[in-house]
Amino acid sequence: MSIALRARSGVWGSRTTFVLALTTSAIGLGNLWRFPYLLGENGGALFLMVYLATLFLVAVPVMIAEVVIGSHGRADPMSSLLYASKHSGTFAAWSVIGWIMGIAALLILAYYSVVAGWGLAYVQKMDSGVFGDASAATVGQLFIDFLADPEALVYWQSIFIILTFAISGLGIHRGLGVLFWFAIPLLLVLLGVLIIFNLQYGDMEKAGEFLFSSVSFDFTARSVLIAMGHAFFTLSVGVGVGIAFGAYAPDKLPIGRTVIAVAVLDSFVAIAAGLAIFPIVFAANLEPSMGPGLMFVSLPYAFGNMPQGETYGLLFFVLVSVIALGSAVALAETPMAYLVERMRLRRPVAAVLLGAVVWLLALSCALSFNQWSEVYFYESLTLFQLLDRLTVEFLLPVAALLTTLYVGYALRREVLRVELYRETNNFFFLWRACLRYIAPPAILVIMLAASIEIL
Ligand code: PHE
Repeated sequence: MSIALRARSGVWGSRTTFVLALTTSAIGLGNLWRFPYLLGENGGALFLMVYLATLFLVAVPVMIAEVVIGSHGRADPMSSLLYASKHSGTFAAWSVIGWIMGIAALLILAYYSVVAGWGLAYVQKMDSGVFGDASAATVGQLFIDFLADPEALVYWQSIFIILTFAISGLGIHRGLGVLFWFAIPLLLVLLGVLIIFNLQYGDMEKAGEFLFSSVSFDFTARSVLIAMGHAFFTLSVGVGVGIAFGAYAPDKLPIGRTVIAVAVLDSFVAIAAGLAIFPIVFAANLEPSMGPGLMFVSLPYAFGNMPQGETYGLLFFVLVSVIALGSAVALAETPMAYLVERMRLRRPVAAVLLGAVVWLLALSCALSFNQWSEVYFYESLTLFQLLDRLTVEFLLPVAALLTTLYVGYALRREVLRVELYRETNNFFFLWRACLRYIAPPAILVIMLAASIEIL
């Protein structure tokens, strides 16, 4: 759809739908799976603080900038970037940001599908009753055995990828937000059930200390980079989701307050996930730093040992899969919009093409847990780890940095002010100051410090 054709009134229909869609993209495996295991690996409280600081001082301003670009351009991310450049009389070369975002989205989608496939598989495992009264060691072993089985991994992730691209290809992704009237509130209820279980059976005290007051001594510059990268990941910053969704934003949207509200809700879910997981980890003597398996071991163990746990567990993993699907469809949107709006492919054709690319990449990721577990990149990284690090520790920060420079310095102030007309002058001033003076040096210094440390 060309810029001229797209109705200025926005296609989300209402403000609520837009907020829901953005929330849907934000809340996902990042909150439930990735955040807790990173906290565990990086020693808890300090990590949480750096994450919150970078979320609100860096990721939120960049997300607002993305939505502003989208709502100004009213087109796919690439066209919106070009349009904004033209309108502000700056270089078209800035649209390279769109490429970085598109590539990051595809790579994230690949390994995201692998983990979402685990979620789907765990729906079935919950149903089969294998976790009933199981010990933590048994549950741990089940996860290890599962990862060692390439056929199972590929089967489940294929289903997930087909679902994602079916929704995206049929173009019903915009209706997804509504589904989350159910999924997100229900998820919160189940996290509540887990936290109540933990009050009785978990080690709340140790978990509270770990999450809110522990000081980790091996906290390094890389931990800071990981925390900032996760702030981008969890708010869906740096992959063009803000631009793609912003293109459909309703006219009177207070963009700034909306993004802040999404970030608050998103962090709330992440902290609730931490409170659901860590008390079990400590009570069952699991290792907080056990890595990506943390959620898939601690929670099935808890569900297996609580009254009616298997029903709750089943529901929980269904919800995990549903919210992962919402995020995955959002992730697919930048490359899809590019193929459909710029390359003029039909939506279903674009979906098949991208689905095939993601499937191949995800296949290689799945094999890195078993048959290719000895294939290393940069000395010790498996393909799964490489994709995770390349995207979250490099591509997202670079995309965010370029966005801050582009919107903070290259675009005209008046153009931005119009898009943010619902916000006060003070808000606008603070936002622009963050984009110009806080975010760019913060991202640069954090990336440089971490790379010096690694070299
Ligand atoms: N924010 C999502 C999550 O936390 C992941 C995601 C990243 C979705 C980028 C869309 C874009 O699970």
